[in-house]
Amino acid sequence: MAIVNAKEMMLKATAEKYAVGAFNCTNLIQMEAVVEAAVEAKAPLILQASVAPSKFLGPQVIGAIYKTLAESAPIPICLHLDHCNDVEFCKVCADAGYTNIMIDASKQEFSENIRQTKEVVDYCHGLGNISVEGELGTVSGVEDQVKVAEDEAQLCDPEQALEFVDQTGIDIFAPAIGTAHGVYKTKNPKLDFDRLEKIASLINGQQLRVPLVIHGGTGLQPDVAKKLVSLGGSKFNVSTDLKHTLIDTTYDYISGHRDEYNPGKIDVAVKEAIKDKIKYWIDLLGCAGKAQ
Ligand code: 13P
Repeated sequence: MAIVNAKEMMLKATAEKYAVGAFNCTNLIQMEAVVEAAVEAKAPLILQASVAPSKFLGPQVIGAIYKTLAESAPIPICLHLDHCNDVEFCKVCADAGYTNIMIDASKQEFSENIRQTKEVVDYCHGLGNISVEGELGTVSGVEDQVKVAEDEAQLCDPEQALEFVDQTGIDIFAPAIGTAHGVYKTKNPKLDFDRLEKIASLINGQQLRVPLVIHGGTGLQPDVAKKLVSLGGSKFNVSTDLKHTLIDTTYDYISGHRDEYNPGKIDVAVKEAIKDKIKYWIDLLGCAGKAQ
């Protein structure tokens, strides 16, 4: 009942000027925590798995967990494959039930990025209700197997963005506008808001066609996150914050309970800590109560 692709929920989010939280998970406890928090907040949700956890657990296992959690949840939930630079693995995950696939060919030449992205779009659309995310320009930092040095990162060219969207047929679009994966070195990273505004107006100015994605959510100040949403970002990715929460909570629990050998207690502590984080992001992005 609650299995949806990303585009459907993002069209509504863009029109109503909020963003759907897209949260990277690496295991079952995180996935359950994220879903429970979103259900409690009545928020639409995008669960994300990047390539390493998808390979480690297996796309079928992740797909089955997603299906079980989403079918019993009273909110729309999408399962997104994050930053996959392998066209064939994109297809494997689409076959396994992921409902949004991100082909990240952003390090390729423009024409090759278009070719690979279009191949994934054609495949996913052929399967049915699966949306596809493409990226142009490169987001610096490390997200799983995709690493981009700060001095290599390139911002998205707005005119090329329009051509990319038109030629690939993608459903949702991630333009590089200066956000980065990981922990920002400064409290106020230099983001190109004007560029995002121009891209939004070129692609969606006449008619809302292809909703926009913001990468690198961790560490952005609340006013910055809100501004990115007001300029059209309607999928907002958060990964590092949740990894730190998982590891710090586990470390703190073990350090404080050296004689405890019930692993379920670590899971409970991690789940509560992740839920608190998710609720923070859901409130900030304005998507609480939007799961209609
Ligand atoms: P952060 O790790 O900076 O939150 O970025 C997440 C992201 O953009 C995943 O694609």
